[in-house]
Amino acid sequence: MPCEVVLGGQWGDEGKGKIVDWTATGADAVVRCQGGANAGHTLVFGEQRLALHLVPSGVRQPGCLMVLGSGMVIDPLALLEEIATLEAAGLDVRRRLRVSAAAHMVLPVHRLQDRAQEEQRGAAAVGTTGRGIGPAYADKAARHGVQMSLFTRSEAQFRSALTAALEIKRAELEPRVHVDVAATVEQLLACREAIAPLVCDATSLLHEMLHAGRRLVLEGAQGALLDLDHGSYPYVTSSSCTSAGALAGAGLPPQSVQSILGVVKAYATRVGNGPFPSELLDPTGERLRKQGHEFGSTTGRPRRCGWFDSMAVRRAAAVSGFTELALTKLDVLDDFDTVRIAVAYDLDGKRIERIPVDAAEQARCVPVYRDAEGWRAPTRACRAWRELPANARRFVALLEEHVGVPVGILSVGPDRDSTFRVRDRTG
Ligand code: GDP
Ligand code: IMO
Ligand code: MG
Repeated sequence: MPCEVVLGGQWGDEGKGKIVDWTATGADAVVRCQGGANAGHTLVFGEQRLALHLVPSGVRQPGCLMVLGSGMVIDPLALLEEIATLEAAGLDVRRRLRVSAAAHMVLPVHRLQDRAQEEQRGAAAVGTTGRGIGPAYADKAARHGVQMSLFTRSEAQFRSALTAALEIKRAELEPRVHVDVAATVEQLLACREAIAPLVCDATSLLHEMLHAGRRLVLEGAQGALLDLDHGSYPYVTSSSCTSAGALAGAGLPPQSVQSILGVVKAYATRVGNGPFPSELLDPTGERLRKQGHEFGSTTGRPRRCGWFDSMAVRRAAAVSGFTELALTKLDVLDDFDTVRIAVAYDLDGKRIERIPVDAAEQARCVPVYRDAEGWRAPTRACRAWRELPANARRFVALLEEHVGVPVGILSVGPDRDSTFRVRDRTG
């Protein structure tokens, strides 16, 4: 079956964009399944660096279709801006881009609402990206969201449906948040000509491709620990970042799946608030941030850094059924004398080997580490398992032992070329 799923196995920013692009070599379509412009997926090709938020990471693969699936929430203004930036960089985008008619719109008011809610939460703020994601999904669930199909309707229908939706928002939010109904309708109407030709029945399109034996890559956004159902609620995003969520968002059945790749970095990072048991609030954390350039691709915020947490990744692997791991950023650990992996937690004096469901309990977990000797040698030029320093190989094996899923792909630098498949381990 021709469907490969690529997902984040930690708290986001694992390097999914890079791995999706690499996996998409020769693929017929890359599908974003959930989330919206809260994602920031970075692709590096020599001097060229692309930061993608809505456009799928197949953008550099010639002929590859890019589908924004039904499970997404799409900010039309952000989409047009991103298309313009990519086209200015010489990429052919519009011809290959398809937007599901069933995906929901992120309206300008959702962004305002996102910020107002964060302010109201005060010290308990989630630390959202401010992209209106939560409010857009909330309106979708409340059944007064606006679908992308609206762009294909007549101007009169567009005006009246959008006005009705915005009036609901106005009644809900004013006076706390000002909703300028007329101005918003005009602003979005101005996008209609550019967006309407992209909107289609993406589910049928993907099913046709599936039946024709085409290769599809499903691109997850965010990460397992930010999942609405299985993450550290309420410090999560508002969509499902699991394999089930990817399939639901694309409208594809479980039997279509050939592989489920969990992307994880060799340590851990988190942006925004919420529990992070292996976080390092010391010079070692600072060193990881500096060496890993751990600053958000969407908001520029410094990412919180810590050691690899095998309980977190085990939970991700269990929920999504990872068939293998893509391990990224191994090179960031190149000059550490000792590298650590959290293998258990101490929770209120008791040793546990599972990540608790409750965010408050997660916050009380103190990691128990297993130490490994560092390799203190550059790995950036390695392109095969046997080329890695022996201690780096031991570290990868240790990580596999604690997660229980084999590492099939290794990444040792930001560039597309610094990726390789782990084949023969005997050499
Ligand atoms: P995503 O959201 O999962 O796609 O990840 P981001 O793009 O937000 O963050 C990953 C960052 O790490 C980007 O700046 C990548 O260019 C970079 N990156 C990816 N893989 C590697 C790697 O193996 N080594 C290094 N040093 N950087 C990497
Ligand atoms: P990619 O796809 C890292 C985090 C935010 C915040 C929480 C909720 O690049 O891995 P939201 O704006 O979604 O309501 O914020 O989720 N978050 C991410 N963190 N990478 C992402 O995407 C993220 N998308 C959302 O920082 O903690
Ligand atoms: Mg990112």
